[in-house]
Amino acid sequence: MSVIVTGASGKLGRLVAENLMDRLPTADLVLVSRHPEALRDFAARGADVRYGDFDEPLSLRDAFAGGDRMLLISTDAVGRRFTQHRAAIDAAVAAGVGHVVYTSHPHPVAGNPLGPVAEEHGETEEMLHESGIGWTALRFGTFAELQVQPAALAVAAGRLVTNGGAGRIVPISRRDCAEAAAIVLTTSGHGGRTYEITGPEALSQGDLAALYAEVSGRSVKVTPIGDKMLVMGLVLHGTPRPVARAIAEFGRAVREGFFDVVDPAFEGLSGRPPMSLREVLIPHRGDLLEVA
Ligand SMILES: NC(=O)c1ccc[n+]([C@@H]2O[C@H](COP(=O)([O-])OP(=O)(O)OC[C@H]3O[C@@H](n4cnc5c(N)ncnc54)[C@H](OP(=O)(O)O)[C@@H]3O)[C@@H](O)[C@H]2O)c1
Repeated sequence: MSVIVTGASGKLGRLVAENLMDRLPTADLVLVSRHPEALRDFAARGADVRYGDFDEPLSLRDAFAGGDRMLLISTDAVGRRFTQHRAAIDAAVAAGVGHVVYTSHPHPVAGNPLGPVAEEHGETEEMLHESGIGWTALRFGTFAELQVQPAALAVAAGRLVTNGGAGRIVPISRRDCAEAAAIVLTTSGHGGRTYEITGPEALSQGDLAALYAEVSGRSVKVTPIGDKMLVMGLVLHGTPRPVARAIAEFGRAVREGFFDVVDPAFEGLSGRPPMSLREVLIPHRGDLLEVA
């Protein structure tokens, strides 16, 4: 059985590729990327590394040829992903791929304050449902590694400035997301299933501040702030306005409960609990203290 991973040179893609190396004969692993040269190490170990770019649909014909199953890693090009993912799904159908596993998002619905960041995932899930191909959606919670930078800033300031209100997040490590994807790609019984792949516990802003304090050994208190003040403050400190807005939208989505999903699916698939945010942050203790 030949398994394709798209976007294989990204952070998640490489982790999935590494995990699949232990589950498949390496010759059955097809790694597709816009940067095949970045995957030389996998090619040297026997993986089939191919060029493929969703913005060049013709490149996908050769990239996906002979694949039985495929992990479609959502791209980072927010606003263009509907077209990109459409090209990938059409090419998978044309190449005779039997099953596509898609990396989705919690609550990928209209009305999510994240707008296209979330909605494009829902649109892609719909495309898969209608494509006639076998599919599985993996709705990953927020990546735990993305908490390192905000944690470092909070430690440096001694306060976690947040518009997240009473909202909670359920971070999951990329490594666990990659393991869930590799399991679904190489085992049966996942057709037509949507899995919420989340961390072990929902964390409030107070929980996050306490955890940042515990890991860093510094005091961190929560400072609540409104959406507009947050954007203004970030812009005053040199953050480009669109980035400041995106940060505020994330906080609003947290506040309104769009990330508050705890689900046992990861443990059901892997047989072990997912890593906690504490376990992810501890090796980053030096990073948390770097800004201070
Ligand atoms: N759950 C979360 O918290 C969270 C947070 C951020 C992002 N995400 C989503 O998860 C994805 C993977 O995250 P990551 O951390 O691994 O991000 P990353 O390292 O920035 O990777 C970006 C990914 O997009 C792919 N890509 C970009 N343009 C493409 C194109 N034209 N055709 C095909 N592939 C394209 C890249 O593939 P190549 O460079 O190899 O071609 C790569 O896999 C992101 O792209 C995003 O959709 C989830």
